[in-house]
Amino acid sequence: MGTKGSDGGCGVCGGRTYLIERQGDLAHARICECSVKCTVCGGRGHNLVEQEATFSKKVGPRKYEVLAPCSCTLRVRRVARYNEVGLPGVLAHANFDNFIPAKTQQDRARSVAMHFAHHYDKKGANKGFVLSGPVGTGKTHLLAATLAHLVLEVGVEARYVEISLLYATIRRGFQEGKSGGEIIGPLSEVEVLAIDELGKGRGSQFEMETMDELIARRYNAHRTTLFATNYSLEPERKSTRAVSGYHSTEDAKNSLRDTELLRERVGERIYSRLCEMCTFVEMPKDAPDHRRTRHELEPRAHHAPAKMRATR
Ligand SMILES: Nc1ncnc2c1ncn2[C@@H]1O[C@H](COP(=O)(O)OP(=O)(O)O)[C@@H](O)[C@H]1O
Ligand SMILES: [Mg+2]
Ligand SMILES: [Zn+2]
Ligand SMILES: [Zn+2]
Repeated sequence: MGTKGSDGGCGVCGGRTYLIERQGDLAHARICECSVKCTVCGGRGHNLVEQEATFSKKVGPRKYEVLAPCSCTLRVRRVARYNEVGLPGVLAHANFDNFIPAKTQQDRARSVAMHFAHHYDKKGANKGFVLSGPVGTGKTHLLAATLAHLVLEVGVEARYVEISLLYATIRRGFQEGKSGGEIIGPLSEVEVLAIDELGKGRGSQFEMETMDELIARRYNAHRTTLFATNYSLEPERKSTRAVSGYHSTEDAKNSLRDTELLRERVGERIYSRLCEMCTFVEMPKDAPDHRRTRHELEPRAHHAPAKMRATR
């Protein structure tokens, strides 16, 4: 796709009516120039629409007009909501179209995320997903593309949190006299939450309890949660160190810290909840790291400007 809209629409936003750009640390959406002035409602924000109803049998069906919010009102609301999500600015460009799967499992990851985004049921239950894979394989890219679509195209309320920032925020809250629950509260209620870097951290009791509470609350409320992790989903532990060979519990703890398995990082309780709440996708260990290889792979298009077309 070039800069000209295929349907003769706006060349800047490709007819999407909004743009996502990097603004400091965060990805920021704004309404495209082409759609700032609404031609549908003339800027009033609402339109008269005709409806038909039968109020009395004698009179029969009657047509009448009501004021309904214009699509531009919806757009303003969705763009504002996107700016509450908290997606990292470095992924402002991320969408499903510019994700290039180099391996079958990356293709599957993209399909799972796209299917989730395009078939999201606002009224029903939605199974989330866990993307696991090495650094630079596009996990956060797919989370960003998914949330952008949900918020801007479907009108879903969503949040993105990187796990160590979440822990840091809660710790800071403690110092200000807030309870963990107060901070977790809003995150446990938001319609869709994406938790990035699951399993990262020191594995302290505080971290485990925080994660456990957040996931349990979301699970009980039938909320949808998406995850990305650098830890492996594979059930078999590949470590060559014999578990029985530890000299002390300290050794055992250190080994837990080194482990590459998500199940061991987050514990059985959380892991089994994830199994129920999510579809698992594991990217291969040998998937190319895009942070290193993107210039070779994609010299032109998808990394050029931060100012790019928004996710579909
Ligand atoms: N398969 C891919 N196709 C296109 N860009 C990618 C892909 N994988 C990674 N990238 C890009 O590389 C950078 C790092 O990707 P990111 O999603 O942060 O990786 P991860 O979260 O898996 O560590 C981002 O700019 C992202 O857009
Ligand atoms: Mg990432
Ligand atoms: Zn435009
Ligand atoms: Zn309007």
